[in-house]
Amino acid sequence: MTKIAPSILSADFAKLGEEIQDVEKGGAEYIHVDVMDGHFVPNITIGPLIVEAIKPVTSLPLDVHLMIENPDQYIDAFAKAGADIITVHQEACTHLHRTLQQIKSTGVKAGVVLNPATPVMMIKDVLTEVDMVLIMSVNPGFGGQSFIQGAVEKIKELNELRETLNLSFEIEVDGGVNVETAKLCTDAGADVLVAGSAVFNKSDRKQAIQDIINSL
Ligand code: DX5
Ligand code: ZN
Repeated sequence: MTKIAPSILSADFAKLGEEIQDVEKGGAEYIHVDVMDGHFVPNITIGPLIVEAIKPVTSLPLDVHLMIENPDQYIDAFAKAGADIITVHQEACTHLHRTLQQIKSTGVKAGVVLNPATPVMMIKDVLTEVDMVLIMSVNPGFGGQSFIQGAVEKIKELNELRETLNLSFEIEVDGGVNVETAKLCTDAGADVLVAGSAVFNKSDRKQAIQDIINSL
């Protein structure tokens, strides 16, 4: 069963709690939290304080996507704030294996993210260590960008690798996911679809989530 993870990047931050409850009622299964530092990506968003503030308003797992340099420095703070899954970019981690161990040592699920320009092979040796792999289908930094088709082949390759290695991590895809592109991702093997603008830019979020599920 495909999971929908609305990205709060496209929510109304002036009423974030209500926005999260709205998508929870609408059938979301994760809340995707985009953390940007203005260095790894050209935008600045939210930090552990916001994660801590939204934790009590939802029973859904908080899927925290760190688009930051030196993630090791902030993992404990995000875990303490209430993250349930923390994903780090391969491109931001010199010692990726160590970083994944650090996430797991906090009791949080660990995931790794690949930018559109990074091949799947770069993370082959850590696949036994992860609960999730996130394939970016846009260059990270902003919501509302167009889906990069090359992500579909990467999802397929990763799905085959998962079968060959007999592993069970989830495959998530992030960026430009909507009623037109969602099925390409799930047919290729994606389990979790991040959707920001395709959910939060619609007035009826329940309908928006259902439309994505119906398109699969
Ligand atoms: C991009 C973020 C995404 C973004 C997705 O840097 O990681 O999670 O919010 O937004 P949409 O679904 O609008 O492409
Ligand atoms: Zn994201």
